Amino acid sequence: MIKRLILHKYSYLFLFLLSSIIFSLFVSNFEFSEKIRFPFLISFLTSFFIFNDFSVKEKAIIVATFLIFSFLIYSFLKVQANVDLEGGIQQGLIYAFPFFVFPSTLFYIFGKIKTIYISSFFSLISFFLHRDFSLSFVWFTSSFIILSALEGARRRISIFKVGIFYGLFGLILSLILGNGFIKSFFFFVSSLFSPFISVGLVFFIERAFRILTPFYLFDLQDLENPLLVQLRKRAPGTFHHSIFVADIAHSVAEKLGVNAELVRCAALYHDIGKIIRPAYFIENLKGLEKHLKINPPLSSKVIIKHVEDGVKLARSYNIPERIIDFIKEHHGTTYPEFFVKASEEENLKFEVRYPGPSPRSIETLILMIADSCEAALRSVEELTPAKISELVDRIISKKMEMKQFDNAPVTFEQINKIKSAMVETLIEFYHPRISYSEEKIKYYIDLKKGKYKEKVEGTAGYDEEKEEELPHGNSDYSNGINGKGRESEDKEMKK
Ligand SMILES: [Fe+2]
Ligand SMILES: [Fe+2]
Repeated sequence: MIKRLILHKYSYLFLFLLSSIIFSLFVSNFEFSEKIRFPFLISFLTSFFIFNDFSVKEKAIIVATFLIFSFLIYSFLKVQANVDLEGGIQQGLIYAFPFFVFPSTLFYIFGKIKTIYISSFFSLISFFLHRDFSLSFVWFTSSFIILSALEGARRRISIFKVGIFYGLFGLILSLILGNGFIKSFFFFVSSLFSPFISVGLVFFIERAFRILTPFYLFDLQDLENPLLVQLRKRAPGTFHHSIFVADIAHSVAEKLGVNAELVRCAALYHDIGKIIRPAYFIENLKGLEKHLKINPPLSSKVIIKHVEDGVKLARSYNIPERIIDFIKEHHGTTYPEFFVKASEEENLKFEVRYPGPSPRSIETLILMIADSCEAALRSVEELTPAKISELVDRIISKKMEMKQFDNAPVTFEQINKIKSAMVETLIEFYHPRISYSEEKIKYYIDLKKGKYKEKVEGTAGYDEEKEEELPHGNSDYSNGINGKGRESEDKEMKK
């Protein structure tokens, strides 16, 4: 992780931060005095704004948040100056400032690296207000703890757990720095209560600005979500297809290291438009009854309409636009092959295409491939790893031929990775349906007849790893189980 941080372009921002401090100290003759405030601010803010990675909107949010942050510290200090409490308690009040709220909320707007930068800036610049360098240092250091711990958190309760962890870390660090028990204790207590503010703020921001935080994605995946309940009731076949596609696409996205949670969530909604006319889709009926009453061109139009219906439905249920992108892009600008071919057979000439656009991200592209593979594999009998591999290959080549990957920022290398991850995942998922070769059946019968009794007895108890080699579709099992390699393994086990 440290290596990734060093190599990241934002590490330059940290260099700016450090150089700002050194420059400011140099100007002020290495004394922490009033004199360092001005050069520090100028040099740091310059570095802050010359980076174009922050959009104008983001810069506005940072400035607004910083103003709120400064105002809150100022108010804390005002209260501290005006109350008359026992010496230690009065001095320690500023340690109860809920600093935790800022990095833990900003993390969901800006992501990890940008938030580390912003909270470092906040914690160090606040020194000019409260004049307690060790407090700034505790805030600065603990920002790293918060952001590392929040990564991968899927439930809101994680913020509370991180709050406790942050509080304990700050308490120990503060005691080490010699801040005394009262100040350190205030810091700890504030850390226990700050998560309540963070959870509320994150919830408000994600809903108001439709930002897909991990919590929002988690909520959207709840199968009791009204739109998903409707899909389950009205189009049960599509509902199960969506769940299967979601699992496949999630697994592939995870293997590729892209946003797997987003892919899984969006896959649940990709065919939501089929709620409108469920009986026209093959997974929801036993035959083609509905289509027998209309001509193939009209059938194509009805099928294509599910994308447009899906977008409308999702919008009416306030589903975020990023999820709607998956509904729009999962068929790209292809066409329903079955009915187009049927039209050609009947000499009915017409042009029809899904509205698209074709996938514009690697995530929507993964969904497109997973969707097609799931639908195609349902009709394949006698599945074998070779057939799965051939089918995935054919689907990807076809989509490429139809220029469906042209809008997506993917390289050939990534497409190959998607291909092998998809084959691997489908073999794992369709494992119970994979037919065993005759050779394996013969081996199984021989095994039952006791032909390999010695070897079976030789294995002490149930050996999960070795047992698993039998039903797998790979041919290399014979080297392991029948061959000498396995025998010598068994003998070794006996010893
Ligand atoms: Fe679809
Ligand atoms: Fe689908």
